[in-house]
Amino acid sequence: MGSLNFQMGVCILVLLISFSCNLVDSQTEALGSCFPPQCGSKQQNFPECHQSFLNTKDQIRRNFTRQTYLPNRIRYPKTIWDQLNTFFKDTGANIIFGLNALSGKTIQADGSATGAWDSANSEYLMRYTVKKNYTMYAWELGNELSGSGVGTRVSASQYAFDTRTLANIVQEIYEGVEIKPRIIAPGGFFDANWFKEFIDKTPEILDIITHHIYNLGPGVDQHLVEKILDPSYLDGEADTFRQLENILKTSITSASAWVGEAGGAYNSGHNLVTNAFVFSFWYLDQLGMSSVYDTKTYCRQTLIGGNYGLLNTTTFEPNPDYYSALLWHRLMGRKVLSTNFTGTKKIRSYAHCAKESMGITVY
Ligand SMILES: *[C@@H]1O[C@H](CO)[C@@H](O)[C@H](O)[C@H]1NC(C)=O
Ligand SMILES: *[C@@H]1O[C@H](CO)[C@@H](O)[C@H](O)[C@H]1NC(C)=O
Ligand SMILES: *[C@@H]1O[C@H](CO)[C@@H](O)[C@H](O)[C@H]1NC(C)=O
Ligand SMILES: *[C@@H]1O[C@H](CO)[C@@H](O)[C@H](O)[C@H]1NC(C)=O
Repeated sequence: MGSLNFQMGVCILVLLISFSCNLVDSQTEALGSCFPPQCGSKQQNFPECHQSFLNTKDQIRRNFTRQTYLPNRIRYPKTIWDQLNTFFKDTGANIIFGLNALSGKTIQADGSATGAWDSANSEYLMRYTVKKNYTMYAWELGNELSGSGVGTRVSASQYAFDTRTLANIVQEIYEGVEIKPRIIAPGGFFDANWFKEFIDKTPEILDIITHHIYNLGPGVDQHLVEKILDPSYLDGEADTFRQLENILKTSITSASAWVGEAGGAYNSGHNLVTNAFVFSFWYLDQLGMSSVYDTKTYCRQTLIGGNYGLLNTTTFEPNPDYYSALLWHRLMGRKVLSTNFTGTKKIRSYAHCAKESMGITVY
């Protein structure tokens, strides 16, 4: 397969804030409307509620209508941003922060969001972040608005325009700052035409193109285990990886591909399936397959939270997939090797140069 770089990325995305990120000075204002109830009453006690930070997205998705996506509905006090950044620094995590790409847009009757992105609030957040010396690995624009979108959508040409706006404000605000954040978009489901147009229109401004994977369907499905063990479901995703790799190869862009979010089964997965041993058949196959197609980082939804956490939501003890991620991280090096197994498709094979020793790791 030639060589490529692959880093195991476990992203602790502060996804809830991708809906809006207004900062207000008051510690108390409107917190109840943005945090899940179990967290709202304890907002001053961050350690007790940080698990809620990690998986509020599904809950928000379930509860809120499209109207809620409109800007300025959810507000966060600055102290929350300060506390989060203390947590990020203490844990040494690389942080990617999702910005609300719908600010300033109008939602049309057909479900599309039109008009230019209003970057004012993001600029405010960024200036504050730079002033406080908080380090962001990247700013990501939007969430699940590509292609036909989830709830609403934005056209590829408008998205490219908005991403350019983001790149411009980052360049201006981070002038003279040593560590510059990367620009990531669109954090949505793959759609070949949409992604091609978007990539072709963002050369030199986009660092990382992200797509999301929930290829097993809804978590409530009673047949998830069969799907996880069915080669045709596992192979189905190869087409997305292959197409995206081809688009990047045939474009002048220098952006690399990441899986920006993947939990396998949406609406929070399925208890005792997506957090159990059987799910590693899906997860390890995804890690192998995505690296074959030159994906640089794979962000698993979630570290903690929902039914697909790498850690047990209540005890924080590792679930089986945590060990799969750990094994991958320790054994699989950065060079991916071509493997070809010609027997049953139920046996999957992947090989990389070994990470910390001579030789090859095959699994
Ligand atoms: C969503 O709605 C349910 C039922 O009304 C409620 O229990 C839950 O706390 C809500 N979650 C959020 C994030 O608002
Ligand atoms: C940020 O870093 C600069 C340079 O290292 C330093 O002068 C400044 O005091 C720092 N600001 C804060 C808020 O820590
Ligand atoms: C998480 O831990 C609790 C408490 O030990 C346990 O009841 C539950 O089954 C665990 N969840 C998983 C997915 O193992
Ligand atoms: C794997 O090997 C078989 C048999 O030699 C060959 O027909 C097939 O094209 C190969 N597949 C790949 C992906 O190289």
